[in-house]
Amino acid sequence: MTTQPDATAPLAPPQPTGAAGRRGPFQPGERVQLTDARGRMHTITLAVGGEFHTHRGRILHDVVIGLPDGSTLTNTAGEEFLALRPLLSDYVMSMPRGAAVVYPKDAGQIVQYADIFPGATVVEAGVGSGALSMSLLRAIGDQGRLLSFERRADFAEIARGNARTFFGTDHPAWTVTVGDLAETLPEVCAPGTVDRVVLDMLAPWECLEAVADALVPGGLLICYVATATQLSRVAEGAKEHGGFAEPHAWETIERDWHLEGLAVRPVHRMHGHTGFLITTRRLAPGVTPPLRKRRPAKGPDDPEEQPFGVEVDREWSPEDVGERVVSDKRLRKIRRTVTGEAPPPDMPPKRRDADPAPGTDPAPDGDPAETPAERHTAQDDVSTPEVDQ
Ligand SMILES: C[S@@+](CC[C@H](N)C(=O)[O-])C[C@H]1O[C@@H](n2cnc3c(N)ncnc32)[C@H](O)[C@@H]1O
Repeated sequence: MTTQPDATAPLAPPQPTGAAGRRGPFQPGERVQLTDARGRMHTITLAVGGEFHTHRGRILHDVVIGLPDGSTLTNTAGEEFLALRPLLSDYVMSMPRGAAVVYPKDAGQIVQYADIFPGATVVEAGVGSGALSMSLLRAIGDQGRLLSFERRADFAEIARGNARTFFGTDHPAWTVTVGDLAETLPEVCAPGTVDRVVLDMLAPWECLEAVADALVPGGLLICYVATATQLSRVAEGAKEHGGFAEPHAWETIERDWHLEGLAVRPVHRMHGHTGFLITTRRLAPGVTPPLRKRRPAKGPDDPEEQPFGVEVDREWSPEDVGERVVSDKRLRKIRRTVTGEAPPPDMPPKRRDADPAPGTDPAPDGDPAETPAERHTAQDDVSTPEVDQ
């Protein structure tokens, strides 16, 4: 049975910004991705009377204009090309860049794990080339607000231009403020009004105070940083601030696969590293974060002298890098297990019996959180000559 459209139903709402340009035949002014038989991609912007040249032949733009998305065409040398409208992920990788962009794999993670929802008020800095801004705008939709900050006016212009080309117009939910985030955020956003803050900049820890003021209770901060040293500094800064919950950090490694006949395998080359992500939630006013039981050693008191949360000029301790320290008592016990050495004569017989036999899982010294993998590591560590002495 089919249902007929209700003629009395209200008209469908206007299309969301950018949706119209995602469908239908190719139009002048649009970017089109042409892929040749070897998989090489060329992105052209269609113009009436325009031409696309490779070293062997050419394609008239007028031939492409009006074709459906996903068409094939041949150049004057008889080479075949597949014409597709670029996806957002294709677009950001080929658009003009002022600054390095957030790669699509990380933009996807940011939208998901920062819980960017339709209608949200989101603060973003820096804007750079606008790649991440476009993913955020799509996620918040026309009813949301993206308040972006960029301290370089030229980068802000490039980003606005990139987004305008992609959406076909200036996105109504987007405002770009030129200036330093820590200085301008309080001028633009009233305290406690921002749902999410997304930072992709060199020193996000410098903005934690302003960000904490702007966020709603329970709001989320996500930072994208390139190095482990920046990651450490953000984590320690958020803990030091006291108004954030325990941070969570991760990275995403993406490996493409080659698909050809029976040769189905990972590709030989990949992007080994883009950046790390770290999230933390804003606590309600006056609330202090719950104490963590197994917190690594505290960072330095003066971050200016010790720029990344550790004293670079002294030898690092296991606590500095968050390693669990095995007690001397436990080390002696493990050594006896490994070497078969007899327990000391003054040890009570009950304790001697409790010593695990070599190769068995020793009972941990009262830390139920210790995992089998960690226990394994501890045993490996103590078998090294340095610790045995
Ligand atoms: C890596 S780029 C951002 C790229 C962007 N997320 C994208 O996907 O295209 C970093 C940008 O942050 C800007 N920036 C750095 N510190 C800033 C601050 N404190 N306030 C505002 N912008 C800042 C820089 O000028 C630069 O353009």
